[in-house]
Amino acid sequence: MLSFERKKMGMNEILKSAHSGWRYLVIILLLVAFINALMGFLGKKPYTEGNRKLNVFALISAHIQLVLGLVLYFIEGVYKYDSSNAIARYWKMEHLSMMIIAIILITVGNARSKKMDTAAKKHKTIFIFFGFALLIITAAIVMMVKVDGSRHYFGM
Ligand code: HEM
Repeated sequence: MLSFERKKMGMNEILKSAHSGWRYLVIILLLVAFINALMGFLGKKPYTEGNRKLNVFALISAHIQLVLGLVLYFIEGVYKYDSSNAIARYWKMEHLSMMIIAIILITVGNARSKKMDTAAKKHKTIFIFFGFALLIITAAIVMMVKVDGSRHYFGM
């Protein structure tokens, strides 16, 4: 029993570090894709295979973060947290919903950009959807640091 508990705790810790560290990859890929799309739009540049791949990598990284987050949410029993406590509520509701909305925006933005018929429209779709996703992710992380004093902007 003891060794089972230990093993379980070890798994959770690994998942927490993975989810915590993976945020940097998601944010950097999103930011680079956003900047490229904005420059592509303003500079009337073609929509390249490189642009398309970058957007897909940002999308995949966000989906991996979603899976890691969902697994943590259930194995850590976050869904059972007491909502009358602000820190608990942040993890139970706000983090989950804000991040899922951001990931939906990334998914929809990427899918819509594929359907657009001109390079300008593709770039515009990406910078709008990824831009809002970045804003929501940033807001969720600012909220996290404000609500839960044990968290830091650049933790791991
Ligand atoms: C783009 C999406 C996401 C980003 C950037 C993100 C980022 C973060 C960050 C920065 C932390 C704090 C880590 C630390 O203090 O070391 C965290 C923790 C957590 N996240 Fe996310 N997250 C995302 C999506 C999600 C989703 C969709 C869920 C759940 C369904 C989720 C569940 C959790 C949980 C349960 C924790 C607390 C883990 C712990 O106790 O340390 N996350 N996330």
